[in-house]
Amino acid sequence: MTQAQASLDCSVLFTPFRIKSVTLRNRIVVPPMVTNRDIVGPDGIQWYARLAQGGAGLVIVEATSVGRFGSELSEGKLRQLVDAVHREGAAIAIQLFPVTFGSSVAPHDISRSDIEKIKKGYAVAVRECQEAGFDGVEPHGAHGFLLNQFFSPLRNSRKDDYGGALANRMRLGREIVQGIRNEVSDEFLILYRHTPCEDGGYTIDDSIAFVKALVDDGVDIMDISPASDKEPGDLAAPIKQAVGCPVIAVNDMDDRERAVVTLQDNRADLIAIGRGLIADPEWPKKVSEGRLGEVVECLKCNEKCHGNLSKGLPVECVQWENPGPGE
Ligand SMILES: Cc1cc2nc3c(=O)[nH]c(=O)nc-3n(C[C@H](O)[C@H](O)[C@H](O)COP(=O)(O)O)c2cc1C
Repeated sequence: MTQAQASLDCSVLFTPFRIKSVTLRNRIVVPPMVTNRDIVGPDGIQWYARLAQGGAGLVIVEATSVGRFGSELSEGKLRQLVDAVHREGAAIAIQLFPVTFGSSVAPHDISRSDIEKIKKGYAVAVRECQEAGFDGVEPHGAHGFLLNQFFSPLRNSRKDDYGGALANRMRLGREIVQGIRNEVSDEFLILYRHTPCEDGGYTIDDSIAFVKALVDDGVDIMDISPASDKEPGDLAAPIKQAVGCPVIAVNDMDDRERAVVTLQDNRADLIAIGRGLIADPEWPKKVSEGRLGEVVECLKCNEKCHGNLSKGLPVECVQWENPGPGE
């Protein structure tokens, strides 16, 4: 660690953030990360409780198909997950993925009745989530997945009112958010994950227009996530500046200087740390207590996080000496 790193004042990371009736104890968010663990089984609950125990302010549970709610993911099972995270002092939201139609499905493959099914799926899921005590939900509209494809003029070749003009390409995301807002209380948080400048042929101004509309529809926090490590991590700033809504910035925010500058310059309100918190869930506690030398820094090797994910194995970290948070 250099002297500059050691003397960096990180206190801005540890100021509380109030949104509606939820107060986050600090600005650090666990972004959604598929773990290949059962989120309502002992393993999954322990994983998320451990992340909360490490000090993050908000835990966003991994992308979860809306089709699983109401049956497999009962309110009672979800409540155990929610309570475990709340007990450790963090707020909890969950990322919701549209009904799975198969990974190769594109917007033009989706029928009008499928669109209705997607919207209904979200409505059922969010009702269960609110009942189970979640603080919020996050539709997954990022990273080139289905909802993001609807927004992209290159991926969306529909000829109906869900394709073509920008207003049409916004329609599905907006209707999902409007549908969620109709189902939940005013205090329940709606986050939305979006990728600006996805290589799908839209501009930052298109993203800004979309975010303004989503905020009008009831989104409370925008989670702005670049599609890959190659893109700059601060696409959040133009959204924050143009729309003024609360924004999460992500990508390599375990670089403490980057995280501090992002918040100090008002480029975002919250920062999310993904792989860094898999490597060391105690990162927030250790940094807040100045125990910087004790932080197990993420090596960005992607071996057992992304690597295990793509092999269908439980996500881990090469640096875990002993069985990690979920074991
Ligand atoms: C194992 C793994 C699983 C992920 N799963 C999801 C997911 O379910 N939904 C999502 O939007 N992003 C997912 N991501 C992306 C992360 O949320 C985050 O945006 C990304 O890791 C960049 O942050 P970082 O540099 O702090 O790791 C995943 C990342 C990893 C490493």
